Amino acid sequence: MTMNDRFLKACRGEKTDKIPVWFMRQAGRLLPSYRELRKKHGLLELTQTPEIAAEVSMEPVEKLGVDAAILFADIMLLPMALGIDLDIVDNVGPVVKNPIDSMAAIESLKSFDVKNIAYLQETIRILRTKLQVPLIGFSGAPFTIASYLIEGKATRTWTATKRFMLEKPEAWAKLMTVLSDATIQYLGGQIDAGAQAVQLFDSWVGCLSPSDYRKYVLPYVQKIFAGVKDKGVPRIHFATDTAGMLEDFSNVDAEVIGLDWRIDIAKGKKIVGAKSVQGNLDPTALLAEDSILFGKVDEIVDQLPSRDGFIFNLGHGILPETDHEKVKRMVDYIHSK
Ligand code: CP3
Repeated sequence: MTMNDRFLKACRGEKTDKIPVWFMRQAGRLLPSYRELRKKHGLLELTQTPEIAAEVSMEPVEKLGVDAAILFADIMLLPMALGIDLDIVDNVGPVVKNPIDSMAAIESLKSFDVKNIAYLQETIRILRTKLQVPLIGFSGAPFTIASYLIEGKATRTWTATKRFMLEKPEAWAKLMTVLSDATIQYLGGQIDAGAQAVQLFDSWVGCLSPSDYRKYVLPYVQKIFAGVKDKGVPRIHFATDTAGMLEDFSNVDAEVIGLDWRIDIAKGKKIVGAKSVQGNLDPTALLAEDSILFGKVDEIVDQLPSRDGFIFNLGHGILPETDHEKVKRMVDYIHSK
C-alpha cells in the first residue's frame, strides 16, 4: 500500500507535509549492492528478471529514504520490443547492431505487442505488493530513442540524427509516428500493471533549435501525453538543455515538467505555466561537501514562490561516483526544510 503519497500530491499541485524527493538514475550504479549484482548479471538480464529488477528498484527507497521508486528498466527496452537488435555495453551504453538508415528499415519494425513487455509488468506487480511509496514508470521520448537508433550508439553531436531528420523528412515522420504510437502502448502497459506516475525522458532533445523542435518533435510528444491522459496517472515531461524550449513545453499537456540546472527553477516554473515542477540540482553538487551542497538545496527551495507542486530532484541522472551516504543526508535535509 502507498503509505507515503507526498510525491503524487506534489504532482497534482497539492500541499504536502514535506518536500518530496527522488533522483533520476537512483536505482543502480550508486549503491554497492547493485554493483555486486552487476558482477554476476548483465544489465539487460537484470531488467528482464522481475524478482531482481524489483529488488534494485526498492533499494534506493530503503537506503536513501526517497519518496518514490522508479522502475528498473532502460529506454532501449521499447525499441527491443519492436525487434531492434541491440546490446548495452559497459561504459559505452546502448549499441544498435543495424542502425536505422532508411524508410525500409523503419517499415520492417515489428508492431508493438504488450506481451513483449510481460516481464516489466511482472516487475511492476511485484513492486506494488512491496512498496510503500509510489512507483514511477518511464519511457524514452521518440527523439532520444531515435538518436540511438540512427547513430547506433551514444553521441554528443547528434549529426546523423539531425541529417536524417532534415534530409529524409518522410522517413523521420514515419519513425516518430511508430515510436510515439509504441510509447503510448508501452506506458499504458506499465500503468495497467500498476505504475502510479510516468516520466518521459527526452534527454537529448536540447540539441535541436526551438523551431526544429516544434516542427519535428513536439507534435509526437503532444500525441504521447494525450494518448496516456485517460489512464489518470500524473505524467512528467523531462528534458535537458531546453531553456530555449520551455515556452513550447507549456503546450505539452503534462502534470509535471522536469527542469535541468541550466535555468533558475522559479523562472522555469513561470515560463511553463501553472504546472508542477521537478528538479533541478546540478548532479555535480553532490560531490561537494555537505555545507556547500545544502546551500545549493536552499537556493533551489527558497526561490520558489510556493512549495506546492514542487518535487526535488537533480537536473539529470545521479553521477555514479556519488557517495550514497551523502545522498541520504541530503534527503534528510530536504525533508527537514
Ligand atoms: O540518463 C538519462 O538521460 C535518462 C534517460 C536514459 C535512460 N537510459 C534511462 C534509464 C537514457 C538516455 C538511457 C540510455 C542509456 N542506457 C545510457 C546512456 C548512454 C548515453 O548516451 O550517455 C546508458 C549508460 C544505458 C544503460 C543503463 N541503463 C545502465 C548501465 C543502467 C543501470 C543503472 C545506471 O544508471 O547505471 C540503466 C538503467 C536506467 N536507464 C534507468 C533509467 C531511468 C533505471 C532506473 C533509474 O533511473 O535508476
